[in-house]
Amino acid sequence: MSFQNLLIEHKDRIQYIIINRESKLNALNNAAIAELHTAFYEAFHNPGVGGIIVTGAGQKAFVAGADISEFAGANAAAGGEIARQGQTKVFDQIENGSKPVIAAINGFALGGGLELAMACHIRVAAETAKMGLPEVTLGLIPGYGGTQRLTQLAGKGKAMEMIMTADMITAAEALQCGLVNHVVSQDELLPKAEEILNKILLRAPLAVASAITAVNAATKAGVNGFETEIEEFSKCFATKDLEEGIAAFLEKRKPVFKGK
Ligand code: COA
Repeated sequence: MSFQNLLIEHKDRIQYIIINRESKLNALNNAAIAELHTAFYEAFHNPGVGGIIVTGAGQKAFVAGADISEFAGANAAAGGEIARQGQTKVFDQIENGSKPVIAAINGFALGGGLELAMACHIRVAAETAKMGLPEVTLGLIPGYGGTQRLTQLAGKGKAMEMIMTADMITAAEALQCGLVNHVVSQDELLPKAEEILNKILLRAPLAVASAITAVNAATKAGVNGFETEIEEFSKCFATKDLEEGIAAFLEKRKPVFKGK
């Protein structure tokens, strides 16, 4: 499928999803949100895709937020729908996806842009990237999960400070507070994201999917993550990949996982 606001590229089993509204610093308008839902749905269901890297077109911005121009004139009910639809259709969809998703943060990741990066499983940032949740400067708060995911990743104190001051932080500061996993030069950004993803793609895909579910359970209200871990651990015993992994270990060879 072709998109107006996204570029899709394939490199072996890696699918790139590139937000492509460079003149608007890749701000997410409603159309881009809808396209992201479709692109992730297709990537998660395409057996040829092992994992996904999300990045922004150009070198200036990953995503500079939701498209502010589309908020004008919305009432409280419409505002609630924007947040609910976005969260369920894209941000939760990514977090709960069955394949690893890495955000390659190539520049400004603000508002919905940082929320998009935080919904991904792993974040790699260019050293020039700037991150923040500046919604209060508009009279808003984050609505795509930012208050929750920033608190989970960076801690309550840091989240309170970043969200209430609206200050941007540097990539180095983001690394220090646990918001990103790695900081590299702009040139190294995609190679580093690919290196991590290619390593994951050597592992057993169903076990990786179970790991995503179990780790996510740690931050889901009302869910007993230890129970989820037991269920997912148990599920692995019903896979051919576990047989292959154990056999390969005992035979001192590399496993060939089939995702079955
Ligand atoms: N929504 C809609 N348009 C946006 C946007 C957003 N979130 N962020 C940037 N743009 C647009 C600008 O309006 C401008 O469009 P124009 O050329 O048609 O006027 C274009 O992208 C370039 O942005 P500009 O502000 O001129 O670049 P800059 O280098 O001076 O500043 C930022 C960069 C990121 C600091 C600034 O664009 C900004 O503060 N953006 C909004 C960030 C934000 O509040 N995000 C949260 C939204 S909920």
